[in-house]
Amino acid sequence: MYRETPHPIFLHDYQPPEFLIDRVDLAFELDPEQTMVTARLELRRNPAATRGDGTVCLHGEQLELEWIALDGHPLNPVDYRVERESLTVQRVPDRFVLETQVRIHPAHNTALEGLYQSGDMLCTQCEAEGFRRITYFLDRPDVMARYSATLIADKTRFPVLLSNGNRVASDDLDDGRHRVRWEDPFPKPSYLFALVAGDLRAVEDSFTTASGREVALQIFVEPHNLDKCDHAMRSLKKAMRWDEERFGREYDLDIFMIVAVSHFNMGAMENKGLNIFNDKFVLARPDTATDVDFDGIESVIAHEYFHNWTGNRITCRDWFQLSLKEGFTVYRDQEFTADVASRGVKRISDVRVLRSHQFTEDASPMAHPVRPDSYIEINNFYTATVYQKGAEVVRMQANLLGPEVFRRATDLYFARHDGQAVTTDDFVRCMEDASGRDLSQFRRWYEQAGTPELHIQTSYDEATRTCSLIVRQHTEPTPGQPVKAPFHLPLAIGLLGPDGRDLPLRLAGASSPDAPGTHVLELRQAVETFHFVDLPARPVPSLLRGFSAPVKLSFDCTDDDLLFLMAHDSDGFNRWDAAQTLMQRLLLNLVEDAEAGIPESFFDAFRRALRDEASDRALLAEVLTLPAESYLGEQMAVVDVDGIHRARTTLTRLIGERLRDDLLAVYRDNGESGPYAFTPEAVGRRALKNLALGYLMQAEDAEALARCQAQFAGAHNMTDVMAALRLLVDRGGLESRQALDEFYRRWSGESLVLDKWFSVQATSPREETLTQVIQLMRHPDFSLGHPNRVRSLVSAFCNLNQVRFHAADGAGYRFLADRVLELDPLNPLIASRLVKSLIRWRRFDPGRQALMRAEIARILEREDISKDVFEVASKALD
Ligand code: PHE
Ligand code: ZN
Repeated sequence: MYRETPHPIFLHDYQPPEFLIDRVDLAFELDPEQTMVTARLELRRNPAATRGDGTVCLHGEQLELEWIALDGHPLNPVDYRVERESLTVQRVPDRFVLETQVRIHPAHNTALEGLYQSGDMLCTQCEAEGFRRITYFLDRPDVMARYSATLIADKTRFPVLLSNGNRVASDDLDDGRHRVRWEDPFPKPSYLFALVAGDLRAVEDSFTTASGREVALQIFVEPHNLDKCDHAMRSLKKAMRWDEERFGREYDLDIFMIVAVSHFNMGAMENKGLNIFNDKFVLARPDTATDVDFDGIESVIAHEYFHNWTGNRITCRDWFQLSLKEGFTVYRDQEFTADVASRGVKRISDVRVLRSHQFTEDASPMAHPVRPDSYIEINNFYTATVYQKGAEVVRMQANLLGPEVFRRATDLYFARHDGQAVTTDDFVRCMEDASGRDLSQFRRWYEQAGTPELHIQTSYDEATRTCSLIVRQHTEPTPGQPVKAPFHLPLAIGLLGPDGRDLPLRLAGASSPDAPGTHVLELRQAVETFHFVDLPARPVPSLLRGFSAPVKLSFDCTDDDLLFLMAHDSDGFNRWDAAQTLMQRLLLNLVEDAEAGIPESFFDAFRRALRDEASDRALLAEVLTLPAESYLGEQMAVVDVDGIHRARTTLTRLIGERLRDDLLAVYRDNGESGPYAFTPEAVGRRALKNLALGYLMQAEDAEALARCQAQFAGAHNMTDVMAALRLLVDRGGLESRQALDEFYRRWSGESLVLDKWFSVQATSPREETLTQVIQLMRHPDFSLGHPNRVRSLVSAFCNLNQVRFHAADGAGYRFLADRVLELDPLNPLIASRLVKSLIRWRRFDPGRQALMRAEIARILEREDISKDVFEVASKALD
């Protein structure tokens, strides 16, 4: 057990800082084994704070203090106290300069927070609380200071030395080292500090802002990756332009740098002027990266760039406000992708992620509001709720206000709060002030956890030609929140006439009819009734269009209604959703009864869709994809792991058999043509083609196997190669082994491609997968110290392979707990994320429940587990 139970931190305990820091001058003598950090801090008492006891208490962890001086005078040991996580200085004046020197050890920093070594380079990661592993500081986001950083390092090993802001001086020292000084003119919180040292090369470009300033753009990578930066650079320039046009936001420094590093806990980091990226979100060449990778790069580059305004210029007052920057920035990157690619497809993939990650989190022991009110370890709150649900909450406000008013509201937010550290409430107040609307009830979205369930009953009265909707909302209790108040939410709906077109909508009592199309109802009560009058015929309702609110919707409709919506709904999202609901019904029937038939009408609809030349292929591929096994599990009272896998495999095979000719035609018609292009059109063709191949392969079609092998051997882009490899591996046998070996021979030198080799094996539903994964743990290319590799093998198995991870004998659970215990001393953040795969144990049958709980308990028994793992594991058993 944890020696002393870690204490939670509460939002309601927030106090402004007693001291502010105006200026920070840092000097680093960089060396992987030991780095000396000298800090000069200008502190002054915060006029807005209540007076303390005359001491100042700075954060610091794993620092070896070498010396300390106040206003130029070295301090006596009686004047300060060093503890495990702090430095307290007694009897300080209202304004003073504090100087410290500490020693740190980057090469031994396996947690990858603070200053650490990644391959041959040194880099930092300070969000959320990593800066305190670099120097003593008031490491909280409401302390904003101007920084300079002087970096000294060996010139041959570390020819490139980077930090935030502008490079203002550089010289060579006579001992083979060189020195570079950086100054950042913008005040920032410590979590945005960054430095990088390495033997790096840059791809360079430039961008002229709307007001005519020229910004130098640089992407730094290791020399052998110089040929994989084009897509990232293109994405950056697109994002910069888009933010000017859509949000009126211009970049503010003369230089913007991105560095790709191989060892990184998360996706990327928005440090001021010096974004540091997991190389997975920078490096791409058509032959090394898939469409999904290209897509991820474009949106992560945009996301981090957008943080310059939403996060950096305006930052969070405290970490409870994390969604202030993350929810808004995710909303912004979603809109960016919707504008530059396909809006409909983007919405579908965002909702998929929301449903599979956020809804499940909201139904788990880790459920928390978009603005949490307590945490033990903030690293555990970089969650789907803070990010994706936070984005939905911004999206609802944007939709309630409408585009023009929302733009005025964000303009107001940027003008009012520039340079400040603020709260989600400040954000909502700007929405209110710009629109004149009252959003007090809407604020519950930030305060209440849980996914609202919306139940809608519709009826039609022939005599009065009225369609009535009774809408009920209800939210289940979540930990610490037994009773929920109703939410204020937008419900977008349409009514389809017999010809499939939208009918004109007129609410009873309203003076004039709306134009045909979508009507947005605003819900505020637990139960509300709406009457649409003057309808020419009984309509088929299309509800929650565009997924206008992050809720679970249930409504009474027949399979025929769903087929009708799937064929006709003017809302692309709802066409997809109708197809998903229909397939879900068929699959859950099959789970209940393996002999259940599939109605002919389903195959007809599928065939019609395949033959529809006119339709957007990317959207079509989404519509024709069966719901994932994990998603199907969510729809059951108790997840039937094996039944779901059997049912989904059966339906996949039936589609492959019944629609063979159409699928083959689609496969042929959408083949690789010409050089790779990352356009929505080309991405859609590849997605559709590979989906068709998947159905055919499940049907064990001989022609499909030949085509699959040919595609694996001959394709020029990684999307097609991986799609074929995936299918060969899932099929098993000699062909699988050969393909894996060949892939390894070809790509073992490319770390990111090798990750795909690991994960394609880890996610295979074949029975021997766990055995295989355990063997791969011993592969010379596997390392627990490399987060991308751990994710590609261990996390992929635990999170993306429901049927094997949840094997009834509990072997998957044991495997997971063993890995957590191995990883925790090295990297608690990665370990803790893994624990999350066990916390939904209540969703399974008693046998699996017992096995999962036993593993969580085993983790908790370990002495000295990290706060990170303790928090998740202990909440899981609460
Ligand atoms: N702030 C980063 C982002 O979302 C995520 C991150 C958090 C990265 C913590 C590293 C550490 O853009
Ligand atoms: Zn972010």
